Amino acid sequence: MGLRLRGKGQQSHKMVIFAAIFILTTLLILYGSNNTNDAIYSPFHVDTNHALKNTDLKKWAGKDGYVPVYGNKSMSLRCHHCALVTSSSHVLGSQAGEEIDRTECVIRMNDAPTLGYDTDVGNRTSLRVVAHSSVFRVVRKPNEFLNRSETNPVIIFWGPPNKIGKEAKGTLYRLIQRVSMTYTNLSCFSITPNKMRRFDSLFHRETGQDRQKSHSWLSTGWFTMVIAIEICDNIKVYGMVPPNHCGKKPVSKKMPYHYYKPRGADECVTYLQNESGRRGNHHRFITEKQVFARWAKQYNITFTHPNW
Ligand SMILES: *[C@@H]1O[C@H](CO)[C@@H](O)[C@H](O)[C@H]1NC(C)=O
Ligand SMILES: *[C@@H]1O[C@H](CO)[C@@H](O)[C@H](O)[C@H]1NC(C)=O
Ligand SMILES: *[C@@H]1O[C@H](CO)[C@@H](O)[C@H](O)[C@H]1NC(C)=O
Ligand SMILES: *[C@@H]1O[C@H](CO)[C@@H](O)[C@H](O)[C@H]1NC(C)=O
Ligand SMILES: *[C@@H]1O[C@H](CO)[C@@H](O)[C@H](O)[C@H]1NC(C)=O
Ligand SMILES: *[C@@H]1O[C@H](CO)[C@@H](O)[C@H](O)[C@H]1NC(C)=O
Repeated sequence: MGLRLRGKGQQSHKMVIFAAIFILTTLLILYGSNNTNDAIYSPFHVDTNHALKNTDLKKWAGKDGYVPVYGNKSMSLRCHHCALVTSSSHVLGSQAGEEIDRTECVIRMNDAPTLGYDTDVGNRTSLRVVAHSSVFRVVRKPNEFLNRSETNPVIIFWGPPNKIGKEAKGTLYRLIQRVSMTYTNLSCFSITPNKMRRFDSLFHRETGQDRQKSHSWLSTGWFTMVIAIEICDNIKVYGMVPPNHCGKKPVSKKMPYHYYKPRGADECVTYLQNESGRRGNHHRFITEKQVFARWAKQYNITFTHPNW
């Protein structure tokens, strides 16, 4: 751990910036409120020269893959034990909150809330991995996601370089920058273009499918699992179903895709439809879990709620 921040309290600046964020997000909410898909991911060229000779993710990891959005911090988060809390409704009723909060590092995804769900998912967050398409939803609730931690939490943003890259001059990047300047206890990083390509290559190596040619989108779960393996010696995953879960007969009972959207899409319907989607781009949630199952044998990964 041991992230140190340089920020010196510039209170009045903070207030101005905070007000600016508020106005900006309000406008963006008005414009972008139907954009709730995790999946807008414009593919870019897969550079196979970057493919690795070995799949040891511990070695694959590199500090240079993450650039600070503001300032010159480096991504130095390292943990012996991590709780990776998925956004699946399988966490509901688990009563795992206390156990999760006792874990050295707690990892969450996108805008998955803790408020109102802490008995099941806990209330600490050490690392949040956020898709470019979820940035607005995270920024919309600063008290929930940005300003609610005893320690110095880290946020890693992933997305196409033209959206979240340093050279991107777009609204999204400026928003991330403002967040990073405002909440000085937060350490915000974005994944470098080079590392984004390496995530693609990794998918190719692990699945035999070229991500672009197979019209696949990587999920936040994919990024989060890889990053967790990079930084954690031991990972306990909460709420992730095994790869064969949805193909089982009789068809498993309906479970919401996200624990915080009880009336939202069904998890298995979402997984199965994405897996078989051919036209347009789709998430390969089931394929990704087959890879996770292999990694679990290689690294110290266990799955609970359900256990597998
Ligand atoms: C970060 O920048 C500050 C000055 O802006 C400098 O004093 C400090 O040494 C830098 N830290 C690193 C790790 O480069
Ligand atoms: C959440 O945080 C509060 C205060 O920090 C703590 O007392 C409580 O036990 C936590 N809740 C759960 C379920 O972990
Ligand atoms: C962060 O939270 C504290 C107390 O929880 C509050 O006093 C402060 O105004 C918040 N800051 C921002 C920028 O939201
Ligand atoms: C920010 O971090 C400092 C030192 O790590 C800590 O003393 C302070 O309470 C933190 N502030 C918040 C709002 O978490
Ligand atoms: C598995 O956990 C043990 C004990 O914490 C640790 O020594 C070892 O390095 C871990 N192995 C991997 C591959 O992370
Ligand atoms: C694929 O998954 C996304 C969630 O990332 C979901 O919004 C979308 O509806 C799914 N597509 C299908 C065809 O089920």
